[in-house]
Amino acid sequence: MKNYTIQTHNLSKEYNGEAVLKEINLQLERGRIHAIIGPSGVGKSVLLRLLNLLEEPTSGEIHFDGKALRENNRLNLHRRMTLVFQKPVLFNTSVYENVAYGLKVRGENRSSILEKVKKALKVVGLKGYEHKRARDLSGGEKQRVAIARAMVLEPEILFLDEPTSDLDPRNVAIIEELIKYINGEFKTTIVIATHNMFQARRLAHEASFLFEGRIIESGNAQEIFTSPKDRRILRFIKGKMIF
Ligand SMILES: Nc1ncnc2c1ncn2[C@@H]1O[C@H](COP(=O)(O)OP(=O)(O)O)[C@@H](O)[C@H]1O
Ligand SMILES: [Mg+2]
Repeated sequence: MKNYTIQTHNLSKEYNGEAVLKEINLQLERGRIHAIIGPSGVGKSVLLRLLNLLEEPTSGEIHFDGKALRENNRLNLHRRMTLVFQKPVLFNTSVYENVAYGLKVRGENRSSILEKVKKALKVVGLKGYEHKRARDLSGGEKQRVAIARAMVLEPEILFLDEPTSDLDPRNVAIIEELIKYINGEFKTTIVIATHNMFQARRLAHEASFLFEGRIIESGNAQEIFTSPKDRRILRFIKGKMIF
């Protein structure tokens, strides 16, 4: 039997009576890299915010470890997940302070924070950057600080919302390698929203295509990319549909 960390049941989301997401049924297997692919404005970010419990669905349910979400375990679940936004929002302090922030909030002691921050900065290739001002870094370095800030919290599930969309090819490659490394080394379940099919193809084990508010196909990434069942995905792969 597959080991699912998150399952959604007919998850829907409306804003001002307009449906953005319609009856989303997702199964996220533990330890895998999942790509949520779809054109701009289709609801990828909204879906990540629902899964990460930052927003509530209009209807439908989210199950964690096979159990329905209950209000009394919301905080515990929230602590097991971290979302990295498209545009990293960093504090105007040092790289060290930015990465340490979540651990301080959790009340960890100084020496444990120091050790974890050092380790996370090494993982993202920013060893020695502790005292630099976060705001002075390049776009790629900022995004790596944001990923380090997420990683120190040792999340079981890491959500990445278009983490490379504003970056140059060299930094895209660095971040993609980092995503694969985090998944391989720490067995972190990763959910990445992207409009870039090539990126999804390079990274994902599983892929789900969002189109007009619905998941039109979901499953093994290689199978979907080589022989999709839905003709719209075929058009997309052949470059006839602009995402
Ligand atoms: N807080 C909100 N209030 C109203 N509409 C929203 C809100 N957040 C997102 N939307 C709408 O939901 C749709 C999907 O947005 P989004 O998830 O950001 O798309 P994507 O990430 O796929 O580009 C868009 O039409 C957007 O305007
Ligand atoms: Mg988005």
